[in-house]
Amino acid sequence: MVDLSVRLGRIVLKNPILVASGTFGYVREMTPFINISNLGGVIPKTVTMRPRAGNPTPRTVETASGLLNAIGLDNDGIDHFRHAHLPYLRTVGTAVIANIAGEDEDGFVAMTAMLNEEPGLTAVELNLSCPNVSHGLDLGIDPNAVERVVKRCREAGPLPIIAKLTPNVTNIVDIARAAHAGGADAVSLVNTFRGLAVDWKRRRPILSFDMGGLSGPAIKPLALRAVWEVGRALPDLAIMGIGGIANVSDALEFIVAGASAVQVGTSTFMDPSVSGRIVDELSQTLDEAKVSSVKELVGTLQSNRTPN
Ligand SMILES: Cc1cc2nc3c(=O)[nH]c(=O)nc-3n(C[C@H](O)[C@H](O)[C@H](O)COP(=O)(O)O)c2cc1C
Repeated sequence: MVDLSVRLGRIVLKNPILVASGTFGYVREMTPFINISNLGGVIPKTVTMRPRAGNPTPRTVETASGLLNAIGLDNDGIDHFRHAHLPYLRTVGTAVIANIAGEDEDGFVAMTAMLNEEPGLTAVELNLSCPNVSHGLDLGIDPNAVERVVKRCREAGPLPIIAKLTPNVTNIVDIARAAHAGGADAVSLVNTFRGLAVDWKRRRPILSFDMGGLSGPAIKPLALRAVWEVGRALPDLAIMGIGGIANVSDALEFIVAGASAVQVGTSTFMDPSVSGRIVDELSQTLDEAKVSSVKELVGTLQSNRTPN
């Protein structure tokens, strides 16, 4: 039997395969397609303090090997999340990590405090990185702000804190270092990459919001690079790898590059059962490779440029 369990800071998961925020709804709607309790964890769509309508449509468009989206954090607010979704989420039989976005630092801290009053959560993931909302969320590009907000959310209660980072920065290691200094149990790498899709005949961007965030297989090499860079620079900081993961091999690439766990995002839109299948195939794949525990693989990628 392969040991699939992993640890990220204070967070222990039964296996390293989770589903990414914004790509799995609030979990309940996915139950016809997948046995949720087999997953290592679920991360529902970002919630904000107040309800948000999000951006007008069109707010998604397919691109080569990818998806560009500008949803704009459409959600019903944290009160609705607590009353309409959390009671169900407590029954899913796996780790539930709430994902929040504040309009400012105080908003993140207030929501983290509210979630600390709720039983049944494994951790809080801070969406420091959504590129589609101009007000308030840009703090993910400022290391001082990231350190401060993570520290204050840690102090808001005992729940572990995961900082989900934007890749749209000059040096993601600097931001990850700040999250680590603030006491993050882990960083999630990465959110979407800012991009643009153009309808040249109309001389207009395709998305109503103009710019969007790129996800899917197109970003996998970029996300792998971010995970490897952060993992090598900050070996004591746990990493969740995210970006274009579509099969068990993709997941294992992130794990050897330095991720202790991974999240499956856009691939779920192609096949809502894909994350469950990756869990199923993980044991067999590792068994065949004579690896007895996922943990022993984490961060084992060696550079071709330095003698081993
Ligand atoms: C339609 C869509 C909506 C998303 N909404 C959120 C969100 O609400 N909060 C969040 O933290 N990330 C959100 N993301 C980002 C994903 O969680 C993930 O970080 C990103 O898509 C990269 O992974 P992937 O290539 O596997 O999709 C969203 C992505 C997509 C495609």
